[in-house]
Amino acid sequence: MEYRKLGNTGLEVSNICLGTMAFGRWIDEDASVEILHTAIENGINFIDTANFYGKGQDTSYPYGTGASEEIIGRALAGRRQDIVLATKVGLPMGRGRNESGLSRLHIMKEVDQSLLRLQTDYIDLYQVHRFDPDTPIEETLRALDDLVRQGKVRYIGCSNFAAYQLAKSHAISERMNLEKFISIQPRYNLLYREIEQELIPYSQEEGVGIIVYSPLARGLLTGKYTSPDDAPPESRAAHGEVNLQKLFVERNFKQVEAYSQLAKKYNQSLSEFALSWVFNQPGITSAIVGASKPYHVTDAIKASELTWTDELTKEVDRLHDFVYLP
Ligand SMILES: NC(=O)c1ccc[n+]([C@@H]2O[C@H](COP(=O)([O-])OP(=O)(O)OC[C@H]3O[C@@H](n4cnc5c(N)ncnc54)[C@H](OP(=O)(O)O)[C@@H]3O)[C@@H](O)[C@H]2O)c1
Repeated sequence: MEYRKLGNTGLEVSNICLGTMAFGRWIDEDASVEILHTAIENGINFIDTANFYGKGQDTSYPYGTGASEEIIGRALAGRRQDIVLATKVGLPMGRGRNESGLSRLHIMKEVDQSLLRLQTDYIDLYQVHRFDPDTPIEETLRALDDLVRQGKVRYIGCSNFAAYQLAKSHAISERMNLEKFISIQPRYNLLYREIEQELIPYSQEEGVGIIVYSPLARGLLTGKYTSPDDAPPESRAAHGEVNLQKLFVERNFKQVEAYSQLAKKYNQSLSEFALSWVFNQPGITSAIVGASKPYHVTDAIKASELTWTDELTKEVDRLHDFVYLP
């Protein structure tokens, strides 16, 4: 397992981060715990969750329940100090006013709820889940800074921010002498490379750790879906994951087919190829791998150990340009 410093900090994290969005939502506690233990036993020391993750994300109750955090809290008993535990705040946790977003009030309430569910007295990386246009960033950063002073949080990070939102946040932290976001969590995979334009260059320049999510495009880059109507049983599409179904467009199916051919040429499975590409992209600290079965974790570890070459980079870029450039 390879470990890397998270941005400019002294914190060391494995280049595979275990994503736990499936825990308590598409898979039950026993299956989740098995995956978590497989990850830890294989050297993964970095776990990503969110207050929002859990079974409440179905259409009848579209709010977070904290189920993923609860499962992790129970499963980590006795092992907490070996893990870099990252969670998030900001998505809706209920119907009421002040039950979502990045206000001081909501953050202060939610951090205590997360600590209780995770059965810990500190969070290593507390991330804001997405930009909140209705709350001044100053208010959010001041609240997060207080959490670090109180010892509830070690580092702060953000997710789904545009480069200008991250740059603006950094400028405010400097001006107000507050903690800075040390990491960014964006989407990144062979099908969606938009962060290469601004977010990656800015983060590299400023020493921000980049922890990317959906490296397999929620499963599309495994080749298990070939059309909108062929979801294998037990897959996330079969469970009705809306954000995955949104990716079922012709452009993506065509690209998946083209990348499958390329992977085959190098005797790799599509998922190995897609993950290996992410692990070897400049500036990326860790890829957050979503797993609903233990073998998803061990496959990701194998992919992280494959050799990547400049020739492969050129082939991928040629294919990418063919799809995107006029
Ligand atoms: N910050 C954010 O807004 C945000 C958004 C999304 C995700 N995340 C984080 O990132 C994590 C990963 O995201 P993701 O789940 O979308 O990641 P992903 O790695 O792109 O997709 C994971 C899915 O791919 C399939 N898969 C993985 N390995 C496989 C293998 N070896 N063979 C066949 N299928 C395989 C599984 O699908 P099946 O379960 O269908 O078999 C699995 O659920 C989440 O758990 C969460 O922690 C953050």
